[in-house]
Amino acid sequence: RILILDFGSQVTQLIARRVRESGVYCEVWPFTATDDRIRGFAPKGIILSGGPASTVDEGSPRAVEAVFSMGVPLLGICYGQQTMCMQLGGLVEKSDHQEYGRAYVEVREDCALTRDVWSSGAREQVWMSHGDRVAKLPEGFRIVAVSEGAPNAMIADDARHFYGIQFHPEVVHTPHGAQLLRNFTHGVCGCTGDWTMAAFRAEAIQRIRAQVGDGKVICGLSGGVDSSVAAVLIHEAIGDQLTCIYVDHGVMRGGETEQVVRTFRDRFNITLVHRDASDLFLGQLEGVTDPERKRKTIGRLFIEVFEEEQAKLGGADFLAQGTLYPDVIESVSATGGPSVTIKSHHNVGGLPENMRMKLVEPLRDLFKDEVRELGRELGMPEEIVGRHPFPGPGLAIRIPGEVTRERVQILQKADAIYLEEIRAAGLYDAIWQAFAVLLPVRSVGVMGDGRTYESVCALRAVTSTDGMTADVYPFTMEFLTRVSARIVNEVRGINRVTYDITSKPPGTIEWE
Ligand code: XMP
Repeated sequence: RILILDFGSQVTQLIARRVRESGVYCEVWPFTATDDRIRGFAPKGIILSGGPASTVDEGSPRAVEAVFSMGVPLLGICYGQQTMCMQLGGLVEKSDHQEYGRAYVEVREDCALTRDVWSSGAREQVWMSHGDRVAKLPEGFRIVAVSEGAPNAMIADDARHFYGIQFHPEVVHTPHGAQLLRNFTHGVCGCTGDWTMAAFRAEAIQRIRAQVGDGKVICGLSGGVDSSVAAVLIHEAIGDQLTCIYVDHGVMRGGETEQVVRTFRDRFNITLVHRDASDLFLGQLEGVTDPERKRKTIGRLFIEVFEEEQAKLGGADFLAQGTLYPDVIESVSATGGPSVTIKSHHNVGGLPENMRMKLVEPLRDLFKDEVRELGRELGMPEEIVGRHPFPGPGLAIRIPGEVTRERVQILQKADAIYLEEIRAAGLYDAIWQAFAVLLPVRSVGVMGDGRTYESVCALRAVTSTDGMTADVYPFTMEFLTRVSARIVNEVRGINRVTYDITSKPPGTIEWE
């Protein structure tokens, strides 16, 4: 396995993605990890990430001693290369020729990283983002590639297996970047690339059995990808020691509750408590129009109902959660300074951390797309593993103004038509999230010979990689008019449809 030490680059997680895609397990730790911890992890190779700081500045971060003295291969990327050079006796200086974005390097010599990818004499496209550059190489290093702004675009110390790259091989704008990284992990470090989902599944099952013993596990199922995959995996490990609780808050998508209950009970034979709490939730939402109050009301009731159901079961020893790797990566502060924060947890349905049970979190080493792959490996249906994200407060935050049962039903119908058309057009997987919003605005229309005065429905569809930023999905006008016609004709209560063309930022994905 490979260890990535993070100096705070925006794209450190991409290094981890590329390494894992090549079948090698890796973890991302903050650069402040101690020598002992690093030695204990026993990596086959270490990668030092880029970062926003300048090695020339006083107090800028440095790699710990162990990375140079453990005798394992080392790859420094951007800032990682600069601090490696500095710490090994080289010199880094501010450059007047800053390079950001697309750049070209000239390959001067071959090395283990370029094997079968680049040949000497070639000119290759890379992605640069740096202001500083290595001015004097440490002893033992030679130059492999140069660019206009970086005389040491790629360097190698073959004897120690230390390598440095000034550009970013982990981003797609460096066309052969993944292969360069693969040459490091497989060629230099000797990793075999046998980290597959099948292997992960087998190991995870052993780990769950070892942790749980003959204890009882409870899992809150939301219908989303993460809790669903966690539940199926845990069930495969411990069978009936697992009970899932599904709280229906009455603001799910149309038909979703039935689908979840059916899939888990009938297809996977999982013991599932299905609590229909829609009266309670919709009752308490009466008169509530403020989005944050909606969220708080739903969050509070969810915990109350969940605890009630759990008590009825006589409690449990463990609580299962679908926590993912991006939630647990210890991130380095934006300045690259020494302060270390842990990203906040996104719990299943927002359960409190003080629910006096030990946690079973079998997905905490995985990225989202790896969880999907694991779900497929477990034989889960595509409509669950490929599902768009859905917010915990459900349709309540897609009905600005007061949420009533009638309005929920109107929205469910419109939303179902929209998604049906998206699926039929083969667009579902190209979109991060698509949904309808029922506006608290009425407009005048004409149907047949009569005047109508009904609600307006807004459609939203965005592309995104992490939900932090988003672009509007560019449907054709023909598609949009078809969906509009169907909604207005088939859903009583809606007589006008609009398409939301706001990106994030400045908008958010949800309307509330
Ligand atoms: P925004 O609207 O902030 O949404 O651009 C970003 C992502 O987060 C989801 N979202 C939520 N998820 N509880 C959740 O579990 C919430 O209260 C909530 N609000 C927004 C949203 O669907 C999108 O995927």
